[in-house]
Amino acid sequence: MYEDIEEILFNEEEISRAADEIAFRINRDYEGKHPVIIGVLKGSFIFLADLVRRLDIDFTVDFIKASSYGDKTRSSGNVDITYHISADIRNRDVIVVEDILDTGYTLSYITEYLRGFSPHSIRICTLFDKPGRRVVPIKPDYTGFVTDDLFIVGYGLDYNEKYRGMPCVGVPKTQSKK
Ligand code: XMP
Ligand code: MG
Repeated sequence: MYEDIEEILFNEEEISRAADEIAFRINRDYEGKHPVIIGVLKGSFIFLADLVRRLDIDFTVDFIKASSYGDKTRSSGNVDITYHISADIRNRDVIVVEDILDTGYTLSYITEYLRGFSPHSIRICTLFDKPGRRVVPIKPDYTGFVTDDLFIVGYGLDYNEKYRGMPCVGVPKTQSKK
């Protein structure tokens, strides 16, 4: 099924360990608090599910979806929110959970948008970070892995909707989005 994966970069065990470490830090940082955890659809859904099952704090889950219209290789600053949160985040502690932080356009737009609702705090949690591709200066508060400038798939991340269910993360032979 996944025979067209060129190379596996992170296996299930490594991803599980990264989720453990991030959850440990969130449990510590938000002890006694009740953050709103906002998953960025669609790519974050598997990471979010694994992350929240490791939390021992109270939390609320919500989702947001954004599309960015650019050329095929890079997202652009023209971001649109296409699915809105339903929680009231005013004065709340917000953790935005993303699959991968690339140019930064999407997450900087989303965090600015969320700031408009006057939350008490906003932090960014991304499983993967590609700092070499950054256009907008934005840094995650929690990261699992820093990765090279390669298009990666699996564990929620897709190429034309394929590979989302792959339990590990790797590089597909088709690297057209690089
Ligand atoms: P920006 O560039 O705005 O975009 O930070 C982040 C979004 O772009 C997608 N993206 C990827 N998706 N493999 C993927 O499957 C990748 O290597 C990759 N790099 C960026 C992703 O949707 C992310 O939310
Ligand atoms: Mg995404």
